Amino acid sequence: MSKTANVAVVGATGAVGETMLAILAERRFPIGKLHVLASERSAGGTVEFRGDDLIVQDLATFDPTGVDIALFSAGGSVSKEYAPKFAAAGAVVIDNSSAFRYDDDVPLVVSEVNPEQVKHRPRGIIANPNCSTMQMLVALAPLHRKAGITRINVATYQSVSGAGRSALEELGRQTGALLNFQDPQPKRFPVQIAFNLIPHIDDFLDNGYTKEEMKLVWETRKILGDDSIQVNPTAVRVPVFYGHSEAVNVETKQKLSVAEVKALLETAPGVEVVDEPRAGGYPTPVTHASGTDPVYVGRIREDFSHPNAINLWIVSDNIRKGAALNAVQIAELVVSET
Ligand SMILES: NC(=O)c1ccc[n+]([C@@H]2O[C@H](COP(=O)([O-])OP(=O)(O)OC[C@H]3O[C@@H](n4cnc5c(N)ncnc54)[C@H](OP(=O)(O)O)[C@@H]3O)[C@@H](O)[C@H]2O)c1
Repeated sequence: MSKTANVAVVGATGAVGETMLAILAERRFPIGKLHVLASERSAGGTVEFRGDDLIVQDLATFDPTGVDIALFSAGGSVSKEYAPKFAAAGAVVIDNSSAFRYDDDVPLVVSEVNPEQVKHRPRGIIANPNCSTMQMLVALAPLHRKAGITRINVATYQSVSGAGRSALEELGRQTGALLNFQDPQPKRFPVQIAFNLIPHIDDFLDNGYTKEEMKLVWETRKILGDDSIQVNPTAVRVPVFYGHSEAVNVETKQKLSVAEVKALLETAPGVEVVDEPRAGGYPTPVTHASGTDPVYVGRIREDFSHPNAINLWIVSDNIRKGAALNAVQIAELVVSET
């Protein structure tokens, strides 16, 4: 990288924002000035960056003039209001919310899958996909290029960190309460999450699916550039702190053998194959994904009920590759433009 960029992290006190700061530091992103922004609630407090305490500024009163790259992770309504203001002031906005993902003039980018789309940003806004779509497509894009995916059946097992800091706190609090024979008192989730599974993430839609499930449909088609791909998702919240898992069944036009799938995935950027048929020879959120960058793939096997289908188990850290890491990778692509 040849130059430095002035960076603003919007939502810097949140689960994603704090990981963005850590990843910017780890990857030695070439930062000129760094602004850390949140709501009035957190303004005046500090967040840590490369060993220094940075003062959090109030987004509502911040002047975006001079910001080159703005990483937004403060929710959809904040992005809708402020991202266009940052873009109008000359910043490239990389947005983690779903506010702009389905707009035709906003690219939706997974850095390993469609990095070329970063350049097509007429509004100065680039959208970061939803965490479940992100990890699924890092693994499936190489299969799609080779054999043409026609249909995906996916069940997700999504950690609580995907719902932000308050959800992490709720799992911890409920676990402690239940182990002490106390009432778990659900607040952030509609029912108890500790020692439970909840087949409901985001709002229910008229077709019976949830919005989280439909994001997998809409975003897969947009990122792979193929509206004919059929996706049938079920999204489930599980009592895991960090790391989403997905049981995926993929149907392809051409048949793929297990050996071919392994060979494709072993050379795919961002993917690590962990697939041995023995106890522990597969990825899990705790043993592999939590706090690490790769998308892990295991349990690769042919679907014996179908002539052209493969089963995969895909696991990744939803806060890193699922959000913060991909946003920083997009920022790296932007800053490396001449
Ligand atoms: N977690 C994931 O896996 C994930 C994955 C992909 C995308 N995302 C998206 O990333 C965004 C943030 O997620 P998160 O998990 O980091 O949530 P979070 O832990 O709840 O953090 C929310 C952040 O947004 C800030 N914020 C809230 N309202 C604001 C306002 N009016 N003005 C300025 N800042 C405001 C908060 O600041 P205060 O400290 O001032 O409240 C905090 O820094 C959401 O859009 C989410 O959908 C999350």
